[in-house]
Amino acid sequence: MNIMVIGGGGREHAIIKKLRENKRAGRIYALPGNGGIAEDAVCVDIAATDIDAIVSFAAGTWQGENALPAGEHIDFAVVAQDDPLALGCVDRLQEKGIPCFGPTADAAVIESSKVFAKDLMKRYGIPTARYEVFTDEEAALDYLDEAPVPTVVKADGLALGKGVVIAQTREEAKEAVHQMMGEHKFGASGDRIVIEEFLTGPEVTVLSFTDGRTLVPMVSSMDHKRIGDGDTGLNTGGMGVVAPNPYYTEEIAEQCMREIFLPTMEAMNREGRTFRGCLYFGLMITEQGPKVIEYNCRFGDPEAQVVLPLLETDLLTVMEAVSDNRLAEIKVSFKHEHACCVVMASGGYPVSYGKGYEITIDKEVAADTFIAGAVRKDGKLVTSGGRVLGVTATGVSLAEAVDAAYQKVEKISFEKAYYRHDIGARALEAEIG
Ligand code: AMP
Ligand code: GLY
Repeated sequence: MNIMVIGGGGREHAIIKKLRENKRAGRIYALPGNGGIAEDAVCVDIAATDIDAIVSFAAGTWQGENALPAGEHIDFAVVAQDDPLALGCVDRLQEKGIPCFGPTADAAVIESSKVFAKDLMKRYGIPTARYEVFTDEEAALDYLDEAPVPTVVKADGLALGKGVVIAQTREEAKEAVHQMMGEHKFGASGDRIVIEEFLTGPEVTVLSFTDGRTLVPMVSSMDHKRIGDGDTGLNTGGMGVVAPNPYYTEEIAEQCMREIFLPTMEAMNREGRTFRGCLYFGLMITEQGPKVIEYNCRFGDPEAQVVLPLLETDLLTVMEAVSDNRLAEIKVSFKHEHACCVVMASGGYPVSYGKGYEITIDKEVAADTFIAGAVRKDGKLVTSGGRVLGVTATGVSLAEAVDAAYQKVEKISFEKAYYRHDIGARALEAEIG
């Protein structure tokens, strides 16, 4: 069977490695993939946002390097990245009769519009921070004269994870509003904004599989978004992650299922926007209980790099069941172990960093390394992005998983490599209590 995965980061590499465990997975194509993914899949030079070319490739009519052999087509597609989902990639593939894992555009809006997500939660009583929506800059600035600080300013649309500003003062909040609405820093994504209450508490990510009838939460995880040790410095796309998250107790898990997960699935059904795929819950465990910080319409990155290695059930089987509305018929289980992923970045990320450094990875850790930003050049793997790769280890305890992950880091090198030394430290403290 021909499988196609849309995207080209560490998350996609983790998905592809997991899909390959199934013998039915014949050839796996990655669009566009990257230099590391090329070890595990056939990379095709089509951008994840070029929906016309993706559909044509899948149907077997695209012509170019690594096109499908004559007469073949894609049998199953996994759309892993947010922008093709928002652009209706799944809708277009389904029109061609190609089964897909991933939501249609009308369901992907749960991530691509924060206003939609907030209004959905309000309409269906799903716990989240209090908020106001603005389409007019003056009105937003007036509102901020009275708003309590810290406050949170969010661009409505996709903004490469940079559309959220935690403002400590009214001036900072006003500056953020002006950049989004007045200076169009995020283009049309900032034409509407959300200003919301600042919440505090530990953050937990819970990914889930859902076909709109059944929802199966995956093992919880804890991302580390800041660049520096001790959660200091600038926000990044994620510098490491551990699973499970010790703050996510069984009691909280049950409460989330009852008050957040199932109500969200039902709400999307009632809106006529049934969600099929991986629904991502970004949660904060506040003193008033768990609240939704954000929804994403896809696997998290780097969360996928710890959650998928812990998945015991065959991933392709689960994805096919989601696509066919048969999720209730299969049992999805996770190993009762811990996992830790350390992200290695190019020094200077997330501001400015060099590229083109040769990466060497010892054979023994290659299977657990997920490449995010690298290309093949003259037969060598060289860095091409800020976050270069993630390396994951599992263990019977969190401490063991963390130690093993850092041992693997030692077996990977490239010039100016930077990584945090404290991934999992906060989780270990929380375990002790
Ligand atoms: P992003 O992943 O770019 O959407 O960043 C969102 C991050 O901003 C979250 O992981 C939280 O740490 C923080 N955040 C978002 N909304 C709130 C809120 N209402 N209160 C406190 N922190 C928030
Ligand atoms: N790790 C956060 C995200 O994937 O959005």
